Amino acid sequence: MSNQKMKIIKATNYQVEIGSILESSFSNVLSAFSGHKIIIIVDENTHDNCLDYLITSFNELARAEIVLLPTGEKNKVMEVCFQVWQALTEYNVSRKDLIINLGGGLVSDMGGFIASVYKRGLKFINVPTSLLGMVDAAIGGKNGIDLEGYKNQLGTFSHPSHIFIDPLFLATLPGEEIFNGYAEMLKHALIQDKDLWLKIQKIHSENDLIQLDVIHSSVLIKTKIIDKDPLEGGLRKILNFGHTIGHALEGYQLNKRQISHGHAVALGMCAEAHISMKRKFISLEEFRDIEATITASFPMVSIELDEVPEIISFMYQDKKNYSGKILCSLLKGIGSAVYDIEINEAEIGEALLHLNLLANNPN
Ligand SMILES: NC(=O)c1ccc[n+]([C@@H]2O[C@H](COP(=O)([O-])OP(=O)(O)OC[C@H]3O[C@@H](n4cnc5c(N)ncnc54)[C@H](O)[C@@H]3O)[C@@H](O)[C@H]2O)c1
Repeated sequence: MSNQKMKIIKATNYQVEIGSILESSFSNVLSAFSGHKIIIIVDENTHDNCLDYLITSFNELARAEIVLLPTGEKNKVMEVCFQVWQALTEYNVSRKDLIINLGGGLVSDMGGFIASVYKRGLKFINVPTSLLGMVDAAIGGKNGIDLEGYKNQLGTFSHPSHIFIDPLFLATLPGEEIFNGYAEMLKHALIQDKDLWLKIQKIHSENDLIQLDVIHSSVLIKTKIIDKDPLEGGLRKILNFGHTIGHALEGYQLNKRQISHGHAVALGMCAEAHISMKRKFISLEEFRDIEATITASFPMVSIELDEVPEIISFMYQDKKNYSGKILCSLLKGIGSAVYDIEINEAEIGEALLHLNLLANNPN
């Protein structure tokens, strides 16, 4: 990994550096905060696995205050944010101070939210430590928390000034978490880049997924879309492919058999590709290709007929909806997507039952 050259993406308002953090501009960025407080937000696992490396590599961090978040999506809630804001007040944090979010999507979503509203906004940096964080969650300026089991209902648009992506942190990430990141990489390829789809759909090893060029291709797709539509007025919605049904499954399962975000998105993409196929936006052959790629890497989950109405009820809370309609991004071929498509309960139900069929009749 270390012999791969650092890749830098300069986007509007922020910069992404992909490669060893030791060779990045991280140290220079920290120097700009000498004389100011630095707070590092971690969760339990990134505290144990990633924090030491960061602190011992950069002298400027020896004086940092550490804020520990409880691990897991159930804790992406206001009550936890409230405790962090109280801690920031105890530390006398001011608007000139810096927050570093060191963790997966939970830490960057919550840490970004905490930073962006405290004293009307502190500067923050994301150092993602999960593959999903690196290719998706840490980028794009969407920060947020869940409310009453509904995903990301409270949030802000505010970019970290820098995102430092160092695959070294992935050494301690469990294998299934690597595949959660793969789900978002597949999404980026499906909505925007057929050649990338043809390349990454063949990847089955964790090691091949965490190569700088593969991560870079995925990050580039997201940053380009966000530069064109930072506040999700239109085009950016294609990044939500797989998420209308995915978020509903994730929220529905939260108090039952919890599934991870990446896994839920993989299932959601399969279901939304099913709707795309039924509407003849993609061919049956393209759908089979997507279905085979997803089922090769992600376990399907059984969904009983009587669960369908409750799962659909979660979709009515989706932030992309208006006028009481469920609006979704669908595929228009592989490498192309459309947004704001109204989908109905019958076709959602059919797609969910197709997932059930796959769970009970694996090839
Ligand atoms: N803001 C966005 O644009 C955006 C995009 C996609 C997902 N998300 C959000 O991101 C979250 C999912 O992110 P995630 O999959 O990274 O989940 P996560 O942050 O919960 O991390 C998954 C697990 O891996 C652990 N972990 C992380 N890095 C580790 C490391 N280096 N070593 C060992 N363990 C490590 C975490 O502690 C956790 O147990 C969801 O809340 C989702 O809604 C946000």
